[in-house]
Amino acid sequence: MSTTVVVGTQWGDEGKGKFTDLLARDMDMVVRYQGGHNAGHTLMVDGETFKLQLVPSGVLYPHITPLIGNGVVIDPVVLIEEIDRLSAVGVDCSRLMVSGNAHLIFPYHQALDVVAERHLGFNKLGTTKRGIGPAYADKAARVGLRMQDLLDPKIFRQKLAVVLHDKNPFFAKVYNRLPFDLDALAEQYLDECGPRLSSYIGDTVGLLHDALEQGQHVLFEGAQAMYLDLDHGTYPFVTSSNPVAGGVCVGAGIGPRYIDRVIGVTKAYVSRVGAGPFPSELTDDVGDHLVDVGREYGTNTKRRRRCGWLDIVMLRHAVRVNSLSDMAITKLDVLDNLDPVKVCVAYEVDGQRYQTMPYHQSEIHRAVPIYEDLDGWGCDLSGVSARSELPKQAEEYLCFIEEQVGVPITLVGIGPQRHQYISFSPLS
Ligand code: IMP
Repeated sequence: MSTTVVVGTQWGDEGKGKFTDLLARDMDMVVRYQGGHNAGHTLMVDGETFKLQLVPSGVLYPHITPLIGNGVVIDPVVLIEEIDRLSAVGVDCSRLMVSGNAHLIFPYHQALDVVAERHLGFNKLGTTKRGIGPAYADKAARVGLRMQDLLDPKIFRQKLAVVLHDKNPFFAKVYNRLPFDLDALAEQYLDECGPRLSSYIGDTVGLLHDALEQGQHVLFEGAQAMYLDLDHGTYPFVTSSNPVAGGVCVGAGIGPRYIDRVIGVTKAYVSRVGAGPFPSELTDDVGDHLVDVGREYGTNTKRRRRCGWLDIVMLRHAVRVNSLSDMAITKLDVLDNLDPVKVCVAYEVDGQRYQTMPYHQSEIHRAVPIYEDLDGWGCDLSGVSARSELPKQAEEYLCFIEEQVGVPITLVGIGPQRHQYISFSPLS
């Protein structure tokens, strides 16, 4: 038995899907534990692109059982579309199991996400407008409906009636919007989605523990990342779940003693979508270069991502909060033609130097990055297949990160295709 957690160490879009897919080869089960269809994982297999939002990346392997844990929020219409899209290209989704405790996203959550952002004006968070935050808010307020409610029409209607009784006047009076209709929602969710999804809904915690007791290998696939974590990220510019490694325990139903390995996926530079502080952000030609060469546009929302140099201050903190055992560096090839390659090693705030993350958000907003310049390698890494083939400067770049952060690098991505990576140690 072994368990591995894959988490993003920055603001998401680190390329977690690629390494999850790679590691999944040696796994029996892949589990999503938080987030929803705000996530977008792009996988390139044999020249074909797969975009996944809810279904765990491991679905592409016939031997894997993919689970969507209780900590995920689910728009059932999106889940059905994704299953249909995958099935249409021959991917077998029949092994997928979704927790009955996972909460449902409704159109009123999405509407709230959109109007709340509009009302925030300049202070908007830049959410994905998928209803993620409002769905988690209802979960915490104990007025959410769950996947299991799709299987019990009486309870479903009762709960939904209570929710709409509360929400509809609010929509009308505050946002001047038409009310949501109980019958129409019940018809869509109970009559259309329920029957389509009933065979997928079940006891994921039981399945997970059965698998562990049988000695199987389980991979927990994080969506979003450390700095989008509701508790540990750059609040309020965060998502409404806990992507950090600790989120696995709650979002999948496993105790901390069962977690063997935590891999922090780190892009060789940093990107961010949406608003919020970003000390090493580049608004110059180098930033544009990273966007262009790294194809830094959202998988789902198509938004242009903000880009900047690698930030070691963020990484040191991510190592602590997630108990990282090792790191996977992605998109090293995007730096191929940059010289020097800069790395942010500290922040300066009001004359004070910080090696680790200042706890006060205002200081992160004012942080001036202190850079160390490393030599660029000036050649194409995309065909490299072993560590020994890396140019000296690229090797030095990776060693520099390891020294600064105190955690070994075990995987390096050098292109979007499945085979474009270098492994520094056995995969599992
Ligand atoms: P929400 O998760 O839609 O509520 O958005 C909250 C913040 O998280 C926004 O800044 C989004 O851009 C960001 N976010 C959510 N999901 C992702 C993701 O998968 N990658 C990168 N950023 C994300």
